Amino acid sequence: MCGIFGYKGNKDTGALLVEGITKLDYRGYDSAGFATLDKGKIHVEKGVGKMKEISKKINVKKLKGKIGIAHTRWSTHGKVTLENSHPHMSCDGKIALVHNGIIDNYQVLKERLLKKGHTFTSETDTEVIVHLIEDEMKKVKDFKKSVIKALEQLKGMYALVIIHQDYDGMIVVRRGSPLLVGLGEKEFFVSSDVISFLPYTNKAFVIDDNELASITTKVEVENIVEGKKVKKKIQKFNIKGIQSGLGNFQHFMLKEIYEQPETLRKTYAKISSQLKQLHLKPFNRVVTVACGTAYYATLTGSYFFEKFLRLPVDVEYASEFRYKNPVIDDKTLVIAVSQSGETADTLEAVREAKKKGAFIVSICNVAHSTMVRESDFTFHTQAGVEIGVASTKAFTSQLLTLLLFALYFAKFKDEHNREQLVMYTNELLGLSDTIKKVLSGFSDIEKIAAKFTHYKHALFLGRGFLYPIALEGALKLKEISYIHAEGQSAAELKHGPIALIDKDMPCIFIALKDKLYEKVLINMEEVKARGGKIIAIATEGDTEIKKFADEVIYIPHVSEEVSPLLAIIPLQLFAYFVALRKGCDIDKPRNLAKVVTVE
Ligand code: G6P
Repeated sequence: MCGIFGYKGNKDTGALLVEGITKLDYRGYDSAGFATLDKGKIHVEKGVGKMKEISKKINVKKLKGKIGIAHTRWSTHGKVTLENSHPHMSCDGKIALVHNGIIDNYQVLKERLLKKGHTFTSETDTEVIVHLIEDEMKKVKDFKKSVIKALEQLKGMYALVIIHQDYDGMIVVRRGSPLLVGLGEKEFFVSSDVISFLPYTNKAFVIDDNELASITTKVEVENIVEGKKVKKKIQKFNIKGIQSGLGNFQHFMLKEIYEQPETLRKTYAKISSQLKQLHLKPFNRVVTVACGTAYYATLTGSYFFEKFLRLPVDVEYASEFRYKNPVIDDKTLVIAVSQSGETADTLEAVREAKKKGAFIVSICNVAHSTMVRESDFTFHTQAGVEIGVASTKAFTSQLLTLLLFALYFAKFKDEHNREQLVMYTNELLGLSDTIKKVLSGFSDIEKIAAKFTHYKHALFLGRGFLYPIALEGALKLKEISYIHAEGQSAAELKHGPIALIDKDMPCIFIALKDKLYEKVLINMEEVKARGGKIIAIATEGDTEIKKFADEVIYIPHVSEEVSPLLAIIPLQLFAYFVALRKGCDIDKPRNLAKVVTVE
């Protein structure tokens, strides 16, 4: 979702802006724009589509000057057009601004500004901000003070970078949406993600809510609500931990699927050491909050917690939780899961739970994210930077964390069989090698996927620990191949979805040899009897399954508690190969954003 990049230094900023903003394109966007300040004038270039095409169309050479801002837009207010893309300009052309977030009261403000004679060129909520600043400039005559005055009138969320033709720098503000300031040698960077300026500096600080940074020859930060100067803590970001580039892979998604043996090994080591540091007061109930793929991780996690801790778990979509006045008390443990740590709904759910007195444990992949800073304790998954919009390696690292968390606390519960716990631990220690085995069978999955590209719909079915994996498998396919896919409990088939079964509705069954295996076979038989095509994810050595399934993808046997971590791998590959055959934009699927910073 919208990416922001800004530069102030000694270098010509045009090429830097293109490079920096391109690094943020994983977030999802539909247009982009640039503004630079050269010889006292602001110059703007914009384009619609992906950066590859945009950078061909715009004239980067025209983007001269040592100060510049750039933006990738994921449209919320107004269509995907040049006019709606950022930067937005004041009527007099002296101020340019980029924005990530949503201004809730923009309509009222726009009407007021129109009456005052301002001319609007876009349908966006953003444009009101730049006109408001322009309006204040007429009264206050000082750029920074005008920005502050304008912000006092805004309701909503924002990360903003603003330049003025007479100001030798940038003004950066945040309320809600992430922003970092990178500190180089006599140069400064601003970005939604540290990844975009890491080639130049690894020293940076995070702008917190209600903070304004004026970046000139130095950086000064103040809290505009409290009216106080703020001393920021400068962090060093670990470049080694951040893998970039595609290597020999055609897409980031495939690369990330293949990274899983390594990311799980690292996550296992990190979480095992962190568990010893977590001291929880007694809790009798768990509530989880998350969105998207992370939600399916929490759904799987509820099976782990109920099995190993015998505790009730409420699995909530963060977006629903935040508005339902949830019942939370001091014996409730709230677990928030998020790859990015910036998902607006999950952050608000965390704030809501905190307000009600809950202890928040988050599971997050981005160490400098807002969620980490707002949680009481964070488990840091070690998936590394995930670029593909469809989450893969972050998902399995979340699953592993939830399983280790449940197993660790189960150890202290007397009723739990210690030998069994040791068995799970051993299985998890060998998980990376087991996953490598599944990955090595990719060509069989590719062949099967090739036969399924023409379908318009698909059902994914599983039971028990594998029910949430059916949901995640369906999500992967719909996200990247645009085939309509739904996940269901196989047992629920006969309560409705079976009406859909015919030769055009393939069913992907996860039918591993666990305690519900026989029941799943019955469901497969019901589909077969109605002419449905079946792909089965099955346990190695299971020949029986061939009687029911048209295609079988085998995976090694593991215990049913560990099986979600393995069963998702062939489904990720299946979705990938179907999308590849269909020629889809796999890493940047249409309409989707990697980081959803608005509700
Ligand atoms: C977006 C992404 C999904 C992700 C979800 C939650 O919708 O496209 O891949 O699962 O947000 O993101 P989070 O960063 O909170 O895990």
